[in-house]
Amino acid sequence: MIKQLNQESILHISTSSTLQSLASFVKELIENSIDAQSTQIIVNFFNNGKEGFEVIDNGIGISTINQKQLATRGGTSKIQNFEDLEFVLTHGFRGEALNSIATLSNVTIISKHKDEELGWKWEIPQEPTKIARQTGTSIKVENIFYTLPVRAQEFKKNYKIEYNKAINILTEYAIINTNIEFKIYNEEEKNKKKLVLDSGLENQNMKQRITNVLGESNKILHQMAF
Ligand SMILES: Nc1ncnc2c1ncn2[C@@H]1O[C@H](COP(=O)(O)OP(=O)(O)OP(=O)(O)O)[C@@H](O)[C@H]1O
Ligand SMILES: [Mg+2]
Repeated sequence: MIKQLNQESILHISTSSTLQSLASFVKELIENSIDAQSTQIIVNFFNNGKEGFEVIDNGIGISTINQKQLATRGGTSKIQNFEDLEFVLTHGFRGEALNSIATLSNVTIISKHKDEELGWKWEIPQEPTKIARQTGTSIKVENIFYTLPVRAQEFKKNYKIEYNKAINILTEYAIINTNIEFKIYNEEEKNKKKLVLDSGLENQNMKQRITNVLGESNKILHQMAF
């Protein structure tokens, strides 16, 4: 009986196809930061992603109007009945990455749009507040998969594998996007931050970028003719 579907199985069905892992969360946020014309993207992992991560960019930011749309979508996209579930299954979550991540974890967004004076902070699902910030966006993701207890347990066991996948994806993005400076940190313990990847400044040539990201002695560099 459809009516007996509980919230957890609905969430599971609706989000599992798009957002499977820590790496896919990271990928979605990085793509958003790249789309926002950032020239610098910083990623902080907390305990190899086990306690979450944050992505900080200096892109154009999310306008207050856009924030309200995000909030409304979040409000209406909550799956309340079978019609909603059917909609999600047929249309998927395109353009809903942030919402999906917010249904699977705790998300805090801080952003300031380039054309606005003040920024805002939104600790979903609380009300957003006004806040000072330089132009750009920070998104913090914590308590990953807390709405899906079984998956949360799995994640707590496998987080190091997932973390490595996330780093591999970030490495690829850092090589391709030579116009963006990437810095990736891992905070294994509180206030003990280690630099994991430093792409060097933006606007480098590909050779310089590969050297910075993968090191001097890497195979790719030697196979490529410059
Ligand atoms: N870092 C960011 N900087 C500026 N705007 C952002 C950022 N992250 C999200 N946004 C805004 O929030 C919207 C929603 O992001 P989300 O990832 O959920 O969907 P999308 O990027 O539009 O579509 P999809 O990711 O499914 O291709 C974006 O369209 C963009 O306007
Ligand atoms: Mg997106």
